[in-house]
Amino acid sequence: MSILSTREMLLKAQREYYAVPAFNIHNLETLQVVVETAFEMRSPLIIAGTPSTITEYAGPDYVKAMAEVAASKYDIPIAIHLDHFEDVNEIKRDINIGFRSCMIDASKYDFEKNISIVKDVVEYAHRFDATVEAELGKLGGREDDLVISEKDAIYTNPDDAAEFVKRTKVDSLAVAIGTAHGLYKGEVKLDFNRLKEIRDKVSVPLVLHGASDVADDLVKKAISFGICKVNVATDLKIPFSNAVKRYFEKNPDANDPRKYMTPGKEAMKEIVKHKIQVCGSANRY
Ligand code: 13P
Repeated sequence: MSILSTREMLLKAQREYYAVPAFNIHNLETLQVVVETAFEMRSPLIIAGTPSTITEYAGPDYVKAMAEVAASKYDIPIAIHLDHFEDVNEIKRDINIGFRSCMIDASKYDFEKNISIVKDVVEYAHRFDATVEAELGKLGGREDDLVISEKDAIYTNPDDAAEFVKRTKVDSLAVAIGTAHGLYKGEVKLDFNRLKEIRDKVSVPLVLHGASDVADDLVKKAISFGICKVNVATDLKIPFSNAVKRYFEKNPDANDPRKYMTPGKEAMKEIVKHKIQVCGSANRY
């Protein structure tokens, strides 16, 4: 297969009440883990990269080339997704080179400005059959360089969500219902009534950001209430780096990346498997 947009995979998930996992990757190794595991489990997959991975660290051409190899090698639906991009020109640049899924995150702006930025991206992306996710409301926590304090986090208003989707024609909507990026300081509480109200008023697939460190039963309940895409970053990074740290503790003179990366990949694989189970996305293809 070639690199896909997220359109069909999210609509199928919406119809069948499961979620497609969106795993944030940072390099070849982490991309290999998510792709190989999703393939083994016959799960659709969204490979996600933030601007600090795609623009600053790896380069969009490298990331796209890696995703293309993955998509041609494995017969499961694979999308490569621009996650939390704030710069419209960067999104257009990456669509031009073959990305077919993006999030334009204009959630820091007021309602009207968010709408006008998202509309611009949607109009551009749809010409290339690429899909667009936007966020309404504001999630707390840290996602790479994007930091929102708890007091600035704002839950999504269901009526605004309906108007936002209608006016922007966005393909999927990230909702703020109590999750935050990164690890949580206190107990996680999700506003399921709000999610239900948004689901009733909005027809496009809904997205849960900040799914790390959230109890499995809460994520499953959110999926049963209509979440169709679950974003996971921190929960993958921690076991990967802990395993690499342990390897160096035991082998302080190690210097071969193929050796010290391998335990990281193995540890990450276990959590990727688990997240696919929680999403209910195994054996869908
Ligand atoms: P976590 O790091 O909390 O899993 O958040 C990931 C995310 O939402 C990526 O967009």
